[in-house]
Amino acid sequence: MVGRLVLWTILSLLSINSLAEAEAAAKLAKNSSCKDRCGGVHIPYPFGMGAGHCYVDNWFEIVCKKDSSTLGIPKPFLKRFNQEVLAISIPESTVRVSHRITASCSTTPVNEYNMEFENSPFAFSESNNTFVVMGCNNSASMWSLDGRIIFGGCKSPCGRGRFIHGNRSNGTSNCCETEIPYHLNAFITTIEPKVSHNIVNGECNYAFLVDKYWFQKYFTVPTPNISVPVVLKWGIHPTSYSSKLHGPTSKQYQCHRNDPTLLGDHNFTISTYTCACAHGYKGNPYLPQGCQGIYTSLNLFIPCI
Ligand SMILES: *[C@@H]1O[C@H](CO)[C@@H](O)[C@H](O)[C@H]1NC(C)=O
Ligand SMILES: *[C@@H]1O[C@H](CO)[C@@H](O)[C@H](O)[C@H]1NC(C)=O
Ligand SMILES: *[C@@H]1O[C@H](CO)[C@@H](O)[C@H](O)[C@H]1NC(C)=O
Ligand SMILES: *[C@@H]1O[C@H](CO)[C@@H](O)[C@H](O)[C@H]1NC(C)=O
Ligand SMILES: *[C@@H]1O[C@H](CO)[C@@H](O)[C@H](O)[C@H]1NC(C)=O
Ligand SMILES: *[C@@H]1O[C@H](CO)[C@@H](O)[C@H](O)[C@H]1NC(C)=O
Ligand SMILES: *[C@@H]1O[C@H](CO)[C@@H](O)[C@H](O)[C@H]1NC(C)=O
Repeated sequence: MVGRLVLWTILSLLSINSLAEAEAAAKLAKNSSCKDRCGGVHIPYPFGMGAGHCYVDNWFEIVCKKDSSTLGIPKPFLKRFNQEVLAISIPESTVRVSHRITASCSTTPVNEYNMEFENSPFAFSESNNTFVVMGCNNSASMWSLDGRIIFGGCKSPCGRGRFIHGNRSNGTSNCCETEIPYHLNAFITTIEPKVSHNIVNGECNYAFLVDKYWFQKYFTVPTPNISVPVVLKWGIHPTSYSSKLHGPTSKQYQCHRNDPTLLGDHNFTISTYTCACAHGYKGNPYLPQGCQGIYTSLNLFIPCI
């Protein structure tokens, strides 16, 4: 009995506490002192810039940079990863970022660690990205950080000519691509050493994750230092979800937990929460009263009885 009472008290204290916090967060997140645009990019909550109340937690903090590295143009960056943000989608729970490619222009093998998103609420979207390998007879692959699991890889052909955008898959260029697994958020890119005669004609080998639609449409010629768009999925960290967001569910929106997959003997991602406006509502489910009813033309035809 006492135990139950204590539990009840704790629970009610918790909910009062989180309600108050949620209300405060709500006011502040909507407060016009939070900027929601950097350059040409819209920055909706849970992402945000400036004061701590403008974003849900540090994973979602954006800095708007305008310096020589951005050629004087304001550009948003995810602060924790120093990755340039190209676009944020609330309904898809995705963010497009600009990601460095891996290149090898010598005979030394390359092992590049892509581990900035390890243990973060971000992961590479398996449906929007592809792993591309380019160069003459280039064998490249993706491995788990402990080197025990291979996620995928392929060997590009040789002597088929340069890549022409839109036509990479018709078998005429030195290029191959492969799908990536679910919940990938950290990996090693390996490029096997080149044979020496290729160095003479100056061709480099490349391997990179890229937004597959963008790749088909816009990718042209690779050079060692370029960055390409990749699509990341995101969700809210469980601690931020319970302390900062307004509640598990309501008529206007629903949230659900995305559990990690266990591959080998460790999780590649963490649990996260994503929310969506309910059918008939639209807007931003991460803001209180963020989902507003849609008045469809159907309503106009409901007769008075
Ligand atoms: C917005 O926040 C600032 C500083 O936190 C505060 O001074 C201001 O009153 C707030 N405005 C609204 C409309 O809540
Ligand atoms: C991901 O792919 C789907 C089509 O499968 C597309 O509708 C969506 O816009 C893509 N997302 C991003 C962020 O590019
Ligand atoms: C590429 O690989 C093929 C098959 O293994 C081989 O016949 C060819 O000589 C290689 N080309 C170069 C330029 O290394
Ligand atoms: C790509 O290939 C298609 C046929 O597969 C052709 O019609 C088109 O002109 C090619 N595009 C380019 C840019 O070479
Ligand atoms: C592939 O694309 C190249 C370059 O545009 C073109 O010359 C060739 O005819 C295409 N091959 C096929 C099988 O469509
Ligand atoms: C470009 O890449 C080359 C070779 O990988 C490297 O030596 C050089 O420092 C890079 N340049 C810049 C501006 O990052
Ligand atoms: C993997 O994640 C699940 C769900 O969060 C958790 O129950 C499990 O203990 C984790 N396993 C490891 C090995 O971290």
